Formats: sequence, C-alpha cells, structure tokens
Amino acid sequence: MPSATMPVLSTHGCAMPQIGFGTSQLGDCGDLVAAALKLGYRHIDTAWKYGSEKGVGAGIRASGVPRGEIFLVTKVSHENLRADDFARSVDESLRNLQVDYVDMLHVHWPTIDKIPLAETMAALAKTKRQGLTRHIGVANFNIALMEEARHACPEPLATLQAEYHPYLDQRRVLDYCRQNGIIFTAYCPLARGRVFKDPVLAGIAEKKNKTVAQVVLRWLVQQGNIAPIPRSSNPERIAQNLDVFNFTLDADEMKRIHALARPDGRIANPAGRAPAWD
Ligand SMILES: NC(=O)c1ccc[n+]([C@@H]2O[C@H](COP(=O)([O-])OP(=O)(O)OC[C@H]3O[C@@H](n4cnc5c(N)ncnc54)[C@H](OP(=O)(O)O)[C@@H]3O)[C@@H](O)[C@H]2O)c1
Repeated sequence: MPSATMPVLSTHGCAMPQIGFGTSQLGDCGDLVAAALKLGYRHIDTAWKYGSEKGVGAGIRASGVPRGEIFLVTKVSHENLRADDFARSVDESLRNLQVDYVDMLHVHWPTIDKIPLAETMAALAKTKRQGLTRHIGVANFNIALMEEARHACPEPLATLQAEYHPYLDQRRVLDYCRQNGIIFTAYCPLARGRVFKDPVLAGIAEKKNKTVAQVVLRWLVQQGNIAPIPRSSNPERIAQNLDVFNFTLDADEMKRIHALARPDGRIANPAGRAPAWD
C-alpha cells in the first residue's frame, strides 16, 4: 500500500488525484483496474479509442470502491469531432463504462479533417452542461490550439493531457498550463519503458533505494501541477508506481533528470495528426 496520502491537483472546481492508472493497450483490463483501485488509485484514464472502457467499467464495479470516490477520465477520438459524432461517441463511452457521467472528458487529438475547432469545443462544453462529464480538457494540443480552444469554449479547460517524461522537454507547455490554471496530465510518464535502461536514472534510484519508475514519477509530481498516469499490467508494479510521496529528489537530482531531454525524445507523434509541437 502507498505509504503517504495521495495529493490532489485542483483547478476550476476540478480535484484530480495526482497519480492515475493508464489503460491503453490493456484491453480487457477489469482485474487490473479492480486491483489498482484496491491498491489506492482513485484516478483511472481510458479512451474510446483504447478499447479498454468496458474493462475499466467492470473493474470499477468489481472493486467495490464507490463511483463518487473515483476520478474517471475518457476521451473522444479524432474521428468523432463533428458535433453529432461527438455526442454519439460520449454516449457509447458511458454505455461501455456503465456510468452516468465521467469526471473528465478530453478531445483525444486535434482534428485532421478541417472540422472547425469551435464546433468541437461547443460539443465538448455541451457534454459538461448536460452533466455527462464534470470537467473538460484537451489532449495533444499545442499552445496555439489551446489558445484557440479556450477562446472558442464556453466552459473552462481544466487539463491538457500530453506526453511527458525525462527525454522530452515540455517547459513551454508546462509554463502555459501553470499560467492558465490548466493541470498537465503526463502520459507515457515512463517513456513506455525506455527509462529502465538509463544509467543516470539507475544511479539516482540506487542512491535513493527506490526503483527507476519511482524516481521518474517523483520527478514529475515534484515539479507541481503534473499528474502522471503510468500503465502497468503487473500488480506489484501498479502498487510501486503509486508509492512516490514519501521521498524527495534534491535540486541536483531534479536537474540531472531534466538534462536527459533530447530532440528525438518524443514517442507519440502520428503523421498527419500531430500538431506542430512547441
Ligand atoms: N492522450 C494520449 O494521446 C495518450 C497517449 C499515450 C498514452 N496515454 C495514456 O497514458 C498512459 C501511460 O502511457 P503508456 O501506457 O503509453 O506508457 P508508460 O506508462 O510510460 O509505460 C508503460 C510501460 O512501462 C512498464 N512499467 C510500468 N510500471 C513499471 C515499473 N514500476 N517497473 C517496470 N516497468 C514498468 C509497463 O510494463 P508492465 O505492464 O510489464 O509493468 C509498460 O511496458 C496510457 O496507458 C494511456 O492511459 C494517453
């Protein structure tokens, strides 16, 4: 069990547990989600596109944890950003999850099909006003798109979900989010496993008597306003990834991890869909 209480990040009335459980590529993940909830996770990340929503819903029900204690996140895929498609996708997600509402709904990627951003943002805001989601956000938007989205959207954007790990410099986007009251949810926080071969991270982990995953997740949460959502298919590692609130990294350790960023560090960069990154 985690040895310290999970901090919560707050903005625009949204209170998000700082570490979440990622479910991409986990498929029928009911047992893992139930295990994660029993281990203390209260923030679960899924998406219509992942095919994990039914498993997430089953896991929530099997866990016995009351729905009201869980911060549940899903996303509308880029194929469904026209207003009608958007509404249908949200209905399907709620049916998959077997819930009445989610806590956070994201636009998963910006449109590639010349759909006006204002149409998508109005559809996103409408789901909030209908009570289908408590809060709204975007994912994989650059700063220019976030500016446009915030001006087009009649409801506040509470989060940006974007890639962040030691090999990617996200300082500009992090500053923008901090200045505008937007929580930065960090996906691929373990760089999909690339961090485990890193001698700098291994050295810090050994010195701290922690695992590399814990050092990387600590580096993320210690920066403030960042909510990492690591995925694991292994209950021992699921527990380990939550247990990062009982130690700190010193300024030199933080700096050495920041120095690992490199120009080719980005992992999720789909051609034709990714915006011009900041
Ligand atoms: N919005 C978006 O466009 C977007 C894009 C990508 C991801 N996401 C979200 O972010 C979540 C996390 O990103 P991700 O799944 O791509 O990658 P990730 O969390 O960076 O890495 C997952 C990998 O790390 C391993 N791992 C996890 N904890 C470990 C530990 N303590 N020790 C050793 N290995 C460990 C896992 O293996 P084992 O299973 O063997 O433990 C898995 O191979 C996703 O699941 C999804 O929910 C969102």
